[in-house]
Amino acid sequence: MSILEEQIKKLAKLILDSRNIVALTGAGMSTESGIADFRSPGTGLWEKVDPYEYASIDSYIAHPTKNLEFMLETGKAIFSARPNKGHKALTKLQKLGKLKGVLTQNIDRLHHKAKTKNIVEFHGNVMEAKCLQCGEVFPITNMVNQVLQGRSPSCNVCKGMLKPNAIFFGEPLESQVLQAADEIIAGCNLLIVLGSSLVVYPVAFYPQKALSLGAKIAIINIQETDMDSLAEVVIHEKIGDIFPKIVSIVEEKIENNIKR
Ligand SMILES: NC(=O)c1ccc[n+]([C@@H]2O[C@H](COP(=O)([O-])OP(=O)(O)OC[C@H]3O[C@@H](n4cnc5c(N)ncnc54)[C@H](O)[C@@H]3O)[C@@H](O)[C@H]2O)c1
Ligand SMILES: [Zn+2]
Repeated sequence: MSILEEQIKKLAKLILDSRNIVALTGAGMSTESGIADFRSPGTGLWEKVDPYEYASIDSYIAHPTKNLEFMLETGKAIFSARPNKGHKALTKLQKLGKLKGVLTQNIDRLHHKAKTKNIVEFHGNVMEAKCLQCGEVFPITNMVNQVLQGRSPSCNVCKGMLKPNAIFFGEPLESQVLQAADEIIAGCNLLIVLGSSLVVYPVAFYPQKALSLGAKIAIINIQETDMDSLAEVVIHEKIGDIFPKIVSIVEEKIENNIKR
């Protein structure tokens, strides 16, 4: 048996043996849906632009129109993206009663589109707009229409400035989001990390947090991560090539057990 086959088998067994499984997903979860991640060599967005120029709250407030034009261009891929084999495999795992919830760094709503339940979005999402003054949330189309008409997008309620409802550099994460993540991770036996470089904090604390709660860690990511040495299973392959296979093994074993 190859090392890869061994790791696949090992992760399927870990899933079967765990009662309380949580997935932690990053931008690598959505590259197979046509959305670039930030740090993959050659294709990562941050090789092309300076993140602080286009995705920090200070630069947004200083130049909203310039930033929004860039976001609309890069956001096109997100608005039209569909869930891929990896997202669908997570939903299947949940239907098998094997996935409690998903903690995601992604802002693309593809876990929602795949109909996975119990999702915590650490960094918000870009399908909504939020008023910087009164906090009211609107569908993003409201904001996009104003930008396309050449206007600075403003709130229908208080005329304050609107921004996409995703966390920019320089903004804190919302406390209720961190609380929801803590609730999902409590009691977790197995944390499966899918497509994250695990360098963005506080999200990257969660593998450590899961370990301290007695959980095991599995990582599926093309590139190595600094946390590979903490994991029971590490697979450096594309999620779509591997994870659906693992979920199929789990499904088959569960069905065979039911029949027996
Ligand atoms: N889709 C999105 O919503 C999206 C896209 C880009 C960035 N972001 C934001 O960027 C931040 C970046 O952090 P991050 O750790 O999520 O992303 P990252 O870009 O730092 O790392 C992504 C990792 O995924 C791996 N990867 C890429 N494609 C893969 C595949 N098909 N299968 C397995 N692994 C794959 C890469 O090797 C890389 O290590 C996040 O905070 C997130 O909010 C989100
Ligand atoms: Zn407002």
